[in-house]
Amino acid sequence: MKKIITSAPGKLMLMGEHSVVHDRGCLVVAVDQRLRVELSLLDQENKLIICAPNVNIKDFYYDLATNKDISTLPKEVRFVVQSVRNFKKKYADIFKKSGLQINTSSDFASTFGFGSSSAVTVGTIFALIKLFDVSVSNRQLFNLCYQTVLDVQGLGSGFDLAAAIWGGILYFETGGKKIEEISLSNLPLVVGYTGIKADTVTLVQQVNSRLSHYPSLMNTVFDLSWILVKKGKQLLQSQNWSKFGELMDLHQGLSYTMGVSSCQLEKQIMAARQAGALGAKLSGAGGGDCMLALVSDENRAQVEQSIKDVGGEVLVVDLLAPGVRVESK
Ligand code: PMV
Repeated sequence: MKKIITSAPGKLMLMGEHSVVHDRGCLVVAVDQRLRVELSLLDQENKLIICAPNVNIKDFYYDLATNKDISTLPKEVRFVVQSVRNFKKKYADIFKKSGLQINTSSDFASTFGFGSSSAVTVGTIFALIKLFDVSVSNRQLFNLCYQTVLDVQGLGSGFDLAAAIWGGILYFETGGKKIEEISLSNLPLVVGYTGIKADTVTLVQQVNSRLSHYPSLMNTVFDLSWILVKKGKQLLQSQNWSKFGELMDLHQGLSYTMGVSSCQLEKQIMAARQAGALGAKLSGAGGGDCMLALVSDENRAQVEQSIKDVGGEVLVVDLLAPGVRVESK
């Protein structure tokens, strides 16, 4: 039986959250917590079976000959089903009436905000590309994955897909208008988890609503965010950590103004700063998930302790992870 295993990394947003949904840029780093996709060809035509124990999905059956509205399927399988449907549509002559078994597993909980939906989309489409031996560039892979995410959730900048595909650290503009790799060998971050799952779609809609009430104010906030992102990109390249930390603090002020910070995030951010962090901010949509603190070797331990003292969990992760890859054939 033909079989392939791929893996794609998770991500953390360094700067530019929300404004990147509104035609600006962001900085994103890949996290070496990987989501694996195991794909095998089945004998039965048009049959798709999904097992995803991490999200309690066992032997979910989908008939690929049908074209059910994706929103009627359980949330946990939507990205995988839509990935297969979009690949099938684009490569109909190669895919034909294939049947597939897809098993997924993950190093990280889907509640961390590391981007399990984007990693599973990239991992699935990449596995299909490799299994059916199609030649596709990273950019073409991104476009197919981005279409899939838009089909399922209707919004999003696509930054998380880029991180899962390219890995490392990237400068990214909405919808992949620009995707630039930044060369960096280390990034001294502490990651604090609030224990609260944030719903990205709800938070993006909240920001949209604030934008419709205060268009010029919010557009100014997005512009300021983009200025910080561009400056941040240069500071990363020169590894100027103290200045990059200052920009993180400034960006947190913008997230606060957008209305996406939370009590638990603020507690951890303040605690980290008081313990000597060079800068601290939320990462991603806000409302929960994770915060980031930039640290020096000397104050890492104090900053970690300060986050725990206010009820946060410190997640030990390797950053600058490699992008999507084949694990075995
Ligand atoms: O919630 P996360 O970690 O997936 O981050 C969302 C970041 C946003 O800018 C709010 C949305 C997006 O698609 O860029």
